[in-house]
Amino acid sequence: MQTVHALDPLRNAVAELRSRGPVALVPTMGALHDGHLTLVREAKSRGASIVVSIFVNPLQFGANEDLDAYPRQLARDSALLEAEGVDVLWAPTVEAMYPAGFASNISVAGVSEGLCGAARPGHFDGVATVVCKLFNQVMPDMALFGEKDWQQLAVIRRMARDLDLTRPAADAILGVPTVRETDGLAMSSRNAYLSAGERAAAVALPTAMRKAIAAIEGGEPVPATLATLEADILAGGFRAIDYAELREAGGLAPLAARADTPMRLIVAARIGSTRLIDNMAVAPA
Ligand code: PAF
Repeated sequence: MQTVHALDPLRNAVAELRSRGPVALVPTMGALHDGHLTLVREAKSRGASIVVSIFVNPLQFGANEDLDAYPRQLARDSALLEAEGVDVLWAPTVEAMYPAGFASNISVAGVSEGLCGAARPGHFDGVATVVCKLFNQVMPDMALFGEKDWQQLAVIRRMARDLDLTRPAADAILGVPTVRETDGLAMSSRNAYLSAGERAAAVALPTAMRKAIAAIEGGEPVPATLATLEADILAGGFRAIDYAELREAGGLAPLAARADTPMRLIVAARIGSTRLIDNMAVAPA
C-alpha cells in the first residue's frame, strides 16, 4: 500500500491504478472499524483497485463540536488497510486540502435540511465540499459510503446529480448496509466515546427502532409510534432525542403515515456526551 499526503503523488499513484482497471474510493475520517473495512471489501468484490482517504475534515465540524477530540490513529488505521489489500491511502494534510485562500463552498438544499442538518448547521456544506474535492482529486469509477449516514448519502448523491459529476457518476455512488455489533448497535467511530455503562445502554436505540418499525408495518399510526419510540429510547438510558422521524428514503420527504415508497426510520439521540445516529428501512405499504 502506498501512503500519500500531497496531491501530485496521489494523482501519479491513481494513474497507475487506473491503467489496471476500475478505481474505487472509500472516503473516511479514520478511526476505522469493521463498517469501514466492509466498504473496502465491497469495493474489492467489484474488482476495483482501492483508494481510501483519511481526512478529519474541519469544515464539517461546528464550533462546539469535537474536532480536536476526534480520534486520530493513522498508524493503526494504515495497518488495517494494508491488511485488507488497499492500494493507496490518501491522507492529505489540512493545508493540502484547504490551502491558504480557499474560499469555496458546496451547499445542497433540500435533502440537507432538517434531521442532522438542523442540529448541525453547516455540517452538510462541509461534507459536500470535501467529498466533491475528494472526487475531483481521485476521479474514481465508484465511491462507497455506509448507509448509517443516510442523510449524508442522500446529500452526496444529490450533489453528484446536480453538478453532473462523472467520476464518479451519481449511480456509481454506492451505499453499503450498516454494520452492527452483535447486540445490534450500529458501528460508529463515536462508539469509542461511550463509557461501559453507556455502551450497554446504547442498544436501546436499535431495539426501540426495530419495535417501532414492526408497529408501523403492522398498521399502527406513525405519530403515536414515533412518540413511543422516543419514550422507549429515553427509558433505555439516553438523555435526549434530537429527532426521530419517518422519511421517504430517496428525497427524504417527511412522512406522517406509512407510504407505498421505500422509507427510512431515522433517529439521532444523545447518551452522556455522545450523539448517536441510526436509520433502518421500513417496508412500503
Ligand atoms: O462519513 C464520513 O466519515 C465523512 O463525513 C466523510 C464522508 C468522509 C467526509 O468527510
